[in-house]
Amino acid sequence: MTASFDRVLSADAVVVGSGVAGLTAALELAPLRVVLLTKGPIADGSTPYAQGGIAAAVGEGDSPAAHAADTLDVGGGLNDGPAVDVLTAEGPDRITDLMQRGVGFDRRDDGSLVLGREAGHDVRRILHADGDATGAEISRALVVEALAAGHIEVVDHSFAADLVVDAGRVAGLTARVRGEEQVLVVAPAVVLATGGIGRLYANTTNPPAVTGDGLAMSARAGVRLRDVEFVQFHPTALATGRDPMSLLTEALRGEGAVLLDEQGRRFMLEVHPDAELAPRDIVARANWRVLQRGGTVYLDATEAVGDRFPERFPTVYHLCREDGIDPRVEPMPAAPAAHYHMGGIATDLFGRTSLPGLWAAGEAARTGVHGANRLASNSLLEGTVFGRRVAIDIKASGPPAQVDATALRAAVLPGAEPAPQPDVVEDLRDVMWDKVGLIRRHEGLMAALEEIDRLDEKLEPRVSAASNMVTAARIIASAALLRTESRGGHFREDFPESTPWWQRPVVVNP
Ligand code: FAD
Ligand code: SIN
Repeated sequence: MTASFDRVLSADAVVVGSGVAGLTAALELAPLRVVLLTKGPIADGSTPYAQGGIAAAVGEGDSPAAHAADTLDVGGGLNDGPAVDVLTAEGPDRITDLMQRGVGFDRRDDGSLVLGREAGHDVRRILHADGDATGAEISRALVVEALAAGHIEVVDHSFAADLVVDAGRVAGLTARVRGEEQVLVVAPAVVLATGGIGRLYANTTNPPAVTGDGLAMSARAGVRLRDVEFVQFHPTALATGRDPMSLLTEALRGEGAVLLDEQGRRFMLEVHPDAELAPRDIVARANWRVLQRGGTVYLDATEAVGDRFPERFPTVYHLCREDGIDPRVEPMPAAPAAHYHMGGIATDLFGRTSLPGLWAAGEAARTGVHGANRLASNSLLEGTVFGRRVAIDIKASGPPAQVDATALRAAVLPGAEPAPQPDVVEDLRDVMWDKVGLIRRHEGLMAALEEIDRLDEKLEPRVSAASNMVTAARIIASAALLRTESRGGHFREDFPESTPWWQRPVVVNP
């Protein structure tokens, strides 16, 4: 049966994804033999785009307990306390690991770390690199090490299609390499580090690889998912018509940049006592309301940053200049954009999922650290902390189990990549943005589900990024319909308050 695959690879573990979570897990799995699959070239996910930084209690007077308190404050009561404790307590040691891997965080002349501030953090605790190129620097260091590591075989341009499940446990996965080649990867341990779902939305900061594949693959295999209705919309992406939209890092607001409407009014002063540093969902919805009434939103850093812009925020400066804006002297047009998925594949504190042999880490996972809303700069940290814990757990499971050859009879060829259907994908992204976006209501969600079904019928019945997007969209819209309240990133105009009854998760495949 396996003979019909063009190639069979075998490993002690297969990791899907070359972002911070996948690379960390793969490196920490040494000396086990790892096959690492990545959809495009290595590091094609959100990680290299991360700007603001990575949060950890490393500053004087800060503590993991204070970091945990801030994380819980924005999480809307749906965080798992023990997961938050793990994240914040292990954070400082994982920062040390990153430094040892060669990550150069920004420092003052005296060698001390420069710490930034972002919304929801009571103190300055955001480490950054090259000003606002933190993800690129972390990615660079991890990629260099992974490519040099003898235990990791990187298979790029490979699309992981489906898990192979036999007798209730994972035996590997099927993949399509460079569009055509049918590949079976045989492994007793699979780690999904496939990132989030940003590309489901017409307006997003996420790059093209981020299409919810891990979520859809897990759903098909009956794996438990949680909190999928909670999508975070970043308040300030550069509104110049790019896809993905360039991010205007929250660290700009942390440095004092203000939001203005088309009349130059600082409207956040009327919305929340913390004004521009209110929780992300509140700022995003306030911006959205200005745009919905036909106004314009600007992020003005001319006073707060001014001439320091090119040095402190070189990435944003470069992105603005590409679009003809000089942020030293003029405000930047801004709009909200889908940015991060709080929910995902449900895991325990070691990244174990409900399916034996399957682990998940990074944005694809729902570890419980974010609840209904993620604190800024906790995501790179989550990938680092839980990527490592996954590896520790796999190694602790003892010598890799042999996968029985007969188990592989369950493997189904993914087939050649279907012809792209950009119209279906674009329609889907529009529907999600319009009806499952920042402001949701019953009628819109029902209409979205009907439209998703209609688009599904247009797709070839073969697994692809587009079919995964449809699956993920259906799951998110259904959970959003079910949650008849507002909390964190999920806002229902028809149920604008949080209710005590809903302080519980929506679980898919319970
Ligand atoms: P990603 O880095 O997204 O990588 C996903 C990987 O999975 C990719 O390699 C992709 O190819 C692979 N993949 C997916 N599907 C398949 C498949 N079917 N087959 C094979 N491979 C597959 N967070 C912070 O903490 N601080 C920040 O300052 C910050 N800034 C951000 C700025 C931007 C513009 C964006 C978009 C996000 C930002 N975030 C930030 C969020 C953070 O960057 C991400 O949540 C995090 O990097 C996700 O890492 P990951 O390893 O889970 O996934
Ligand atoms: C940003 O720099 O604003 C993004 C930070 C994050 O998403 O954590």
